[in-house]
Amino acid sequence: MAAGKGTRLKSQLPKVLHEVGGKPLLEHVIRAAVRVVPAEDVYAIIGHEAERVRAAMAHTGVNFVLQEEQRGTGHALMVAGEALAGYDHVIVLSGDAPLITPETIGRLLNFHLEEQAAMTLLSADLENPTGYGRVLRKSSRSAEVLAIVEEKAASAAQKKIREINSGFYVFDVKELYGNIGKLSTANAHHEYYLTDMAGVLRKALRKARRPVVAWKTANAAEVLGGNTRAELSEIDEKMRLAKCRQLMADGVTVFYPATCVIDADVEIAPDTVIEPYVQLLGKTRIGTASRVRSYSVIRDSEIGDGVVVRPGCVMEEARIGTGAVIGPFSHLRPGSDVGEGAHVGNFVETKKIKLGKGSKANHLTYLGDAEIGAGVNIGAGTITCNYDGVNKHKTVIEDGVFIGSDSTLVAPVRVGKGAYVGAASCITEDVPEDALAVGRARQIVKEGWAREKRRKK
Ligand code: UD1
Ligand code: CA
Repeated sequence: MAAGKGTRLKSQLPKVLHEVGGKPLLEHVIRAAVRVVPAEDVYAIIGHEAERVRAAMAHTGVNFVLQEEQRGTGHALMVAGEALAGYDHVIVLSGDAPLITPETIGRLLNFHLEEQAAMTLLSADLENPTGYGRVLRKSSRSAEVLAIVEEKAASAAQKKIREINSGFYVFDVKELYGNIGKLSTANAHHEYYLTDMAGVLRKALRKARRPVVAWKTANAAEVLGGNTRAELSEIDEKMRLAKCRQLMADGVTVFYPATCVIDADVEIAPDTVIEPYVQLLGKTRIGTASRVRSYSVIRDSEIGDGVVVRPGCVMEEARIGTGAVIGPFSHLRPGSDVGEGAHVGNFVETKKIKLGKGSKANHLTYLGDAEIGAGVNIGAGTITCNYDGVNKHKTVIEDGVFIGSDSTLVAPVRVGKGAYVGAASCITEDVPEDALAVGRARQIVKEGWAREKRRKK
């Protein structure tokens, strides 16, 4: 179920597209679902901003059912009737509860099948059950459920019940659709509540011995829903911490994990150290024995073994070879490919470049659209002038070149193997192999000029 607006978030973005752990709520739920059943048997019920949700989830390969008007969770299932007609059982998941695990869904399903239940709901005991539907059991020892009562309709005594309805269920499809017409909208929200099916099915099927049962998970955290910004941040924190714990269990050192933001799909090999206040996002991968120092933000990048990322680096879609040293304060934009053992240092910006093995660009430099060979030294303040106002052009710097400080290389231009460029040169023409190019005004010296000036004063 993913059709709701998410009124409590006060957002332009539909609730299920709000992110935790670097991914939309719904994507987490779908990921869990497709580990239990194939994607072709998963249906996402969408409605509010349906096209936006559909586009964001298209890559998951699941089906979509449109609930044009959102008249409650019961109504969402009514709309899905046609899609589910060919199935015996349906597992219903809440699109806003992203911590659910495939294992728990599997256990819920097994329990449902063992009990030959008409409806099985996943419940949990919460410290603070406020806002959730409460489970009314036949007795404390029985799995059988009499009804689910929503917060707004609960009596003072019922509000004290800590066993809540998680919003995850399994239904016998035939019984669900044979009785769903009995739902009414006589409640606080004037909606069809799926939760009312507990009472409806119990009444209808008591004689047929098809019970309504609850299966309680011991891991209450995994049913938390992200209905408010505060709940979203709580879930996000839990997910991040779980990710850090997983990495640590796999041999990665994460100092002060509460300060690190590491997305779910990030991969890090053992013996790598992540210092405090680091963000590793998207599909970033880091090899073994590397170190990412504080205040770096790295997205969708591939970092090799034994790399040091010094403090304050920003990287996006970059590749860093084994043993390279980056930073402090380097900005590696998409397409930056830094070779083995290369150095990119203070206040250096790169974009769409290849920097060869062991080459160095250590200070105050812009390198864009450039192919730089091995063993090259790029002096402080070097700039590739890659843009003429209309088009981008390429700079080629061959192996072993030395570019003196404060040089500008006006692309398209090539500096041949082993050549030198004198400091402060403006290079507009190709430099041949092993040559020295100096492109600057010759220095003039006026002997005694300053002394003369002072004397006149
Ligand atoms: C629901 C349950 C509550 C339970 C809680 C657990 C009902 C009436 N109440 O409350 O017992 O404790 O979940 O998290 O079901 N949705 C649709 N179409 C709609 C309305 C909602 O697809 O017309 C979707 C929402 O996008 C959401 C999910 O259903 O993903 C649950 O809806 P929500 O409004 O969040 O229900 P809760 O108030 O949390
Ligand atoms: Ca909810």
